[in-house]
Amino acid sequence: MSALPGAPYLARRPDGALVLEGHALDALASRYGTPLYVYSRGAMRAALASYQQALRGREHLVCYAMKANSSLAVLQTFAEAGAGFDIVSGGELARVLAAGGQASRIVFSGVGKTRDEMRAALLAGGTGVRCFNVESLPELDRLDQVARSLGRVAPVSLRVNPDVDAGTHPYISTGLKGNKFGIAHGEAVAAYRHAASLPGLKVVGIDCHIGSQITQIAPYLDALDRLLDLVEAVEAAGIAIHHVDVGGGLGITYTDEQPPAAADLVSALLARLDARGHGHREVLFEPGRSLVGNAGVLVTTVEVLKPGRTNDGGKNFCIVDAAMNDLVRPAMYEAWMAMEPCQRREGAALTWDVVGPICESGDWLGRDRALALQPGDRIAILSAGAYGMVMASNYNTRPRAAEVMVDGDTLHLVRERESVAELFAHERLLPR
Ligand code: LLP
Repeated sequence: MSALPGAPYLARRPDGALVLEGHALDALASRYGTPLYVYSRGAMRAALASYQQALRGREHLVCYAMKANSSLAVLQTFAEAGAGFDIVSGGELARVLAAGGQASRIVFSGVGKTRDEMRAALLAGGTGVRCFNVESLPELDRLDQVARSLGRVAPVSLRVNPDVDAGTHPYISTGLKGNKFGIAHGEAVAAYRHAASLPGLKVVGIDCHIGSQITQIAPYLDALDRLLDLVEAVEAAGIAIHHVDVGGGLGITYTDEQPPAAADLVSALLARLDARGHGHREVLFEPGRSLVGNAGVLVTTVEVLKPGRTNDGGKNFCIVDAAMNDLVRPAMYEAWMAMEPCQRREGAALTWDVVGPICESGDWLGRDRALALQPGDRIAILSAGAYGMVMASNYNTRPRAAEVMVDGDTLHLVRERESVAELFAHERLLPR
């Protein structure tokens, strides 16, 4: 057996089969069809445990950012393992409650919470959610009104924009000036004073989230320093802050990235909290990608091989049955996702652009990949557990993929493949 980079849950058997926790992906594809997302429950549990163990002995809560993968079975797995959740919509709230998540362990992020979403979150589970991560002054006022109309007091943390560069893709970098997230560092003390003056709110914490797919510890330490400066200023103004939420964003290995281990990130942050005299505070994290990304693959079948014309040096196209609607990261961020044949075959590899059948040139999954392939072969796209299925659409009236959770010896079909009829079930023809 040989392990694959960034995919400790996957291995190549001596007979050439790619296996996930001992299950051949080719066999799963035959049984459930493709495109198929396959997840390792063990890998998800291990990823969460690495945060939790590094935080042992401290007051803490690891809130899984469920936007990364919101399948009920994934949420259930994390709820059973003691995680909290970071949500960004009323839909995510309903979903996580349905999966067994506790309201008292939910933090509610997002720049545009509606009144209805606030109401649902204030009433969730009887107690309401644990905390609202508030991103603007108007949101403070709106939340105060909604809470008072229900006779509740909303626990709030202000999301501060620390203005640090996380060194990541511009679309997923969120901690710099000039993007829509958070309250500017220079305005935060005034915002806390305002929050503390509103009877429908209770200040409980401070938070930030500086971006995603971060591969260094330094930007986190910079952000934490900026947060702690504010905590000191806010407390000097007589407003107590209980928890510090450092957000999510830890990267994973897609190709040759070497992000720090979660345990190393946690220890570095705890050491900085201690050094600055804040070691007593409760610490919250909001990891998404690092809990699920490397725990999942998308399996797809080669439909058509279309070699380039030799006389014009054209590209070789490998057209598969998954497309940008199933996995949009390459099209949207030019993201590089590793690909492995589910069954290795002898023969020379050619260089392929692996593309979907959708009528757009942007519909590609991988470019210039050296693979030995025949039609009917299956390819696993690795590290697809995060921001894969959750970003899927029905473009070209394509039903979304099925999902399988592997739990040791047991296979669970945790989402059936959509049927075409379901795609237009809510539509109505005009009167004829
Ligand atoms: N907390 C907040 C407030 C966030 O906005 C996010 C992600 C997270 C936590 C979790 O970040 P993570 O640990 O997963 O990096 N679709 C993009 C990623 C968008 C991330 C958005 N916010 C992608 O496929 O790369």
